[in-house]
Amino acid sequence: VEDFFSDGPLAGRRILITSGPTHEPIDPVRYIANRSSGAQGTAIAEALRDMGAEVVFVTGPAEAPRPADVEVIEVESAREMREAVLGALPVEAGIFAAAVADWRVASASGSKIKKQGGKLPVLEFAENPDILAEVSQLAEGRPRLVVGFAAETDDVVANATAKRVRKGCDWIVANDVSPATGIMGGAENAVVLISDAGAETWPRASKREVGARLAGRIAEALGVSPR
Ligand code: CTP
Ligand code: CA
Repeated sequence: VEDFFSDGPLAGRRILITSGPTHEPIDPVRYIANRSSGAQGTAIAEALRDMGAEVVFVTGPAEAPRPADVEVIEVESAREMREAVLGALPVEAGIFAAAVADWRVASASGSKIKKQGGKLPVLEFAENPDILAEVSQLAEGRPRLVVGFAAETDDVVANATAKRVRKGCDWIVANDVSPATGIMGGAENAVVLISDAGAETWPRASKREVGARLAGRIAEALGVSPR
């Protein structure tokens, strides 16, 4: 069905965004997770929506309010996020802003693990699927533009540049999340955009401004110019 109100440079363009953390269950009352408010992913979704894109927003359990007027798919775990992402294809661009847990508990307990008089539980882990790498390397149905994120604490550009090649995505939006930067959990972001053209340092700005700037670049890459 055509959206009567859809207008703007990205009208009719379907774009997927992952956002927020994933939660990996230990038992029915406990989980492991990454730190992520979902604020940057939400800001990107809103900016793309405002440019007319048809946004599919796949989010883990994030504290940030969900963006309005986009298709929201709520998931918990990395494996659920992968299913939702693959199910949302094809898209023209995929933006992978989620902080996906690298590991899950190999066999989560169906019942609550109880204290046992000082005897400590031992958790065995299994590696989660790498959603960004899988979508980047799709032989068929790969989005024209795949954008990954990299939260680093050391050698931001070197780590992110290597990550871009390893995963096979087009761009990496890298940031320094060392506690001293105050980025983690804050309202601002300072990112470096890594592409085949090299590393481009953006000025520190609100997450909303960073989202708008990235949306503009995505529109450019998809070959549309603002009207
Ligand atoms: N990502 C993903 N699926 C995973 C892990 C990460 O899709 N299982 C995506 C993230 O959404 C992000 C990018 O991959 O866009 C980079 O994540 P990051 O954790 O920095 O990369 P890793 O390969 O997991 O490397 P590291 O060992 O530094 O955590
Ligand atoms: Ca990781």
